[in-house]
Amino acid sequence: MEPGAETFRAPAAAYDRHVGRYGAQLASAMIDFAAIEPGIRALDVGCGPGALTAALMERLGRANVTGADPSEPFVEACRARLPGADVVVAPAESLPFGDDAFDAALSQLVVNFMRNPEEGVREMARVTRPGGVVASCVWDYAGEMRLLRAFWDAAREVDLDRAARADEGVVMRWCGEGELAELWRLAGLDHVRFGPISVRAGYAGFEELWSPLPTGVAPSGAFCKSLDEDRRAALKAAYRRHLGVGDGPFELTARAWAVAGTVPRPP
Ligand SMILES: C[S@@+](CC[C@H](N)C(=O)[O-])C[C@H]1O[C@@H](n2cnc3c(N)ncnc32)[C@H](O)[C@@H]1O
Repeated sequence: MEPGAETFRAPAAAYDRHVGRYGAQLASAMIDFAAIEPGIRALDVGCGPGALTAALMERLGRANVTGADPSEPFVEACRARLPGADVVVAPAESLPFGDDAFDAALSQLVVNFMRNPEEGVREMARVTRPGGVVASCVWDYAGEMRLLRAFWDAAREVDLDRAARADEGVVMRWCGEGELAELWRLAGLDHVRFGPISVRAGYAGFEELWSPLPTGVAPSGAFCKSLDEDRRAALKAAYRRHLGVGDGPFELTARAWAVAGTVPRPP
């Protein structure tokens, strides 16, 4: 398991209030980026509580979408939100589906958490028919994902050594511009396209943004939870300062890098 993957064995409600807040908008942009059209069957790998699954179902119909995720709490949350949805507990590296079972395989904010990303993407390609699309996106952790960039900049003020080792902008692979495209080519995909997706989320005030972090959800939450009370208070103050926000409403932008490629047709 990649560093951080275990932090998603957390309540889905906390995830929704944290990065999940950006999920629906990102999902809709991902579907457009991947050029997913009605009339096909799609798999959502690392579906989590189901932001992309729900958006795919809207576009393709509930019966044409399957979700997979190794986190049982997230799979349960996804099933509860989308009654009747076909959602299985499975990691990307070992998908319980036959070859060519889907017309498209997508994943949103997952590749950097895979134990073996190359194997995971190859599996996504294996279960997708020749000519079908395999697409994904990851946050621009080191750059324009403001929620997380400001968090780790604040965390470095509070505990430099540990924050530097946990900073997702440093430890996550496949997050720099063009890196996902490299992985897609390595996994044997054709016609690889790459580009940015920018989304926004609104907050009633800083407390709303902060509230999920002490639960330990996601790598940022796990870092927050691990601090003693004084350091957590220092982190909270520094984070608020780095974001430059207060008790009133505000919006943050978040950029992800997206990639899409097609499964080669036999010669
Ligand atoms: C940031 S969440 C994204 C969830 C969802 N796709 C979304 O956009 O809201 C990362 C997800 O990757 C899942 N995950 C972790 N390791 C994985 C693996 N090896 N294969 C597939 N999914 C994995 C986690 O359980 C979690 O649901």
